[in-house]
Order: sequence, then structure tokens, then C-alpha cells
Amino acid sequence: MTSPSPWQPLTLGRLELDPATLFAGGARGYTDYPTLTPACPSTWPGSASPMPAPATPSQPIRTSHLQETHPMTSLNGAVVLVTGANGGIGGHFVREALARGAAKIYATARSPREWDDERVVPLTLDVTDPASIRAAVEHASDVTVLINNAGSSPSTPGILSHTDEEIRANVETNFLGPLFLARAFAPALSAAGGNTAIIDIHSALSWYAVAGIYSATKAALWSATNSLRLELQPAGVQVVGVHVGYVDTAMAARAEGPKVDPADLVDQVFATLEAGGYEVLADDTSVQLRAGLSAPLEAVYPQLAAGR
Ligand SMILES: NC(=O)c1ccc[n+]([C@@H]2O[C@H](COP(=O)([O-])OP(=O)(O)OC[C@H]3O[C@@H](n4cnc5c(N)ncnc54)[C@H](OP(=O)(O)O)[C@@H]3O)[C@@H](O)[C@H]2O)c1
Repeated sequence: MTSPSPWQPLTLGRLELDPATLFAGGARGYTDYPTLTPACPSTWPGSASPMPAPATPSQPIRTSHLQETHPMTSLNGAVVLVTGANGGIGGHFVREALARGAAKIYATARSPREWDDERVVPLTLDVTDPASIRAAVEHASDVTVLINNAGSSPSTPGILSHTDEEIRANVETNFLGPLFLARAFAPALSAAGGNTAIIDIHSALSWYAVAGIYSATKAALWSATNSLRLELQPAGVQVVGVHVGYVDTAMAARAEGPKVDPADLVDQVFATLEAGGYEVLADDTSVQLRAGLSAPLEAVYPQLAAGR
């Protein structure tokens, strides 16, 4: 029997999420996603502030911030390290890096698999294990592009409902792992004198706190990414943060509604990287939640106003 949820379903423009269905168990994490409702009002609920215009079918959502800024990083000849390379998005990072001319790709995983291209080097890496990170840095000292892609989500709903162990595990995987990897690779990336980068995969849920510790870890990683960008800019290391709603992978296998094709997501990320951009908003959900940061809290979370 399912316990009653402490939350009401939330509606944010075209995004409608019922937190009770975000996490329905399963080893991969959240398994029952709500539908994204295509009914975008022109203003925020209870506010005169305009909502971002919805994309039309003739204008596919392409919201990457392609800023002509420096530093910018080319994948042609790059040495790329992908964490969680066996996963849905990770596999596309490996294949698309090959297509864009990478010289070598460390396809890392807790249990690495074989690849059919000699430029791909399978490498064991558990992002929660400091010894594993040290070994990866030692083995892959020639990395020029670090992609912090590995991630997981807990199987229970809500920050009060997770076990302590689930919270620690999720913080280790989604926040401390990518942060410690960035710190470990930063000296080598900085010493290269340019054409080096770190890409951190966040989530639209970084900006929408309905997913318990998963939202919290992705928000924390977003903040760390922003700090890393500032601190690494003088050394010419480009730092890119990625936000996206549902992606068509195992993690969102039971989600209903629109999902971004992982190949399209990776294409947007690499296009942003090679154009010198800093941030990818890969879908309409991310665009709206980013805009929601400047809206009143009651507009983003209408149940706050309803509770008065
Ligand atoms: N799918 C979505 O809707 C969605 C939306 C927004 C953001 N994201 C983010 O996108 C990233 C990739 O997710 P995905 O959709 O590709 O999911 P996925 O198919 O489940 O892949 C996640 C990968 O992360 C790996 N991983 C988990 N814990 C790890 C650890 N301690 N050390 C090393 N690798 C570990 C998994 O390895 P194993 O194969 O060993 O389990 C798996 O290969 C994650 O950061 C996720 O939070 C996903």
C-alpha cells in the first residue's frame, strides 16, 4: 500500500510534477515520472511577470547559451574522460566525442565494458571512492576534457523520507564525486594552457526542490560548478553546466511525457563547449525553471500560497 504524500501536485507553466510519483522505487532511481503538461500561461501564476515563450514545433527547443566567450574548447584531438560511460547519456558522450574527432576517450565506469574503437580506453572509476579517483587521475593524466556525468537518484520520495544512508550515498555520487574529480583533475587541466574543460551534468531539478536529496545534490553541484568556473577561468579552463528535464534513458525509463533524446542533449552540450559557452538549458523545462529563480516563491511553489 502506498503512503499518502505530504505534497500537492505542482504546476509551473508547462511543467507539472507530482512529487509523490517522482520516486517510486527501483535500483536506478526515480521510476514514475509525471507528464509534462503542454499548457503554458503567459504570466506566472498570481503574477504579472511574463513566462518564457514556449517553443513551437517549427522552432525546436535549442536553448544552449552559445556565448562567443573565451576560453573555448575543441573536441578535435581532445582527450576526454566520461564518468558513468555505461549509462544512457554517458554512452552518447563517448560516441559523439569520437564523431567530433577526440584522440582518446577514457570510458569510465564501476564495471567498464569493451568498446569497438581503439580510441576508447575502458577505465574503472567509482566516483564515490577517493582511491579510485586517485588511480584514475594517475592513469589518465593526459585528460583535457572531464565530463562529470555519473549520477543516481534515491528510490524513496522526499527529503524527510530518505534513509540517512540514501542521503549520504546520493551526496557522495552526485555532489562530492564530481567535485572531488574536478579538484583532482584541475591541476593538469590548468597546466595545459588552454583548450581544456570540465562539463558537469546537473538537472532541471537543481532549480525545483521536489525531488528530495536529488534536487539538493544537483543544486549543490550547480553552485560548485559556478565556483569552479570562476576559479579556473584564469588558467583557461572552460567549465560548462548542463540542465535538462527528462532524458530518454534508464534513469527516466518509466517517465511519461516529453523526454529529450540523449543524443540531442549531448549534441547541445558539445556545441556549447566548442562555441565557448558556459551553460546548457537543454529543454523547455530547464528554461522555465531557470526563469523561475527570479519569480516569487509562491509562483514556483503554488501550494505555499494555498496554505495561507
Ligand atoms: N535521465 C534523466 O531524465 C536525467 C535528467 C537530468 C539529469 N540527468 C543526469 O544525467 C546523468 C546521467 O544519467 P543517465 O540518464 O544516463 O542515467 P543512467 O543511464 O542511469 O546512467 C547513470 C550512470 O551513472 C553511473 N554511476 C552511478 N553511480 C556511480 C558511481 N558511484 N561511480 C561511477 N558511476 C556511477 C551508473 O553506473 P552503473 O552502470 O554502474 O550503475 C550509470 O552508468 C546523471 O548525472 C543524471 O542525474 C538525468
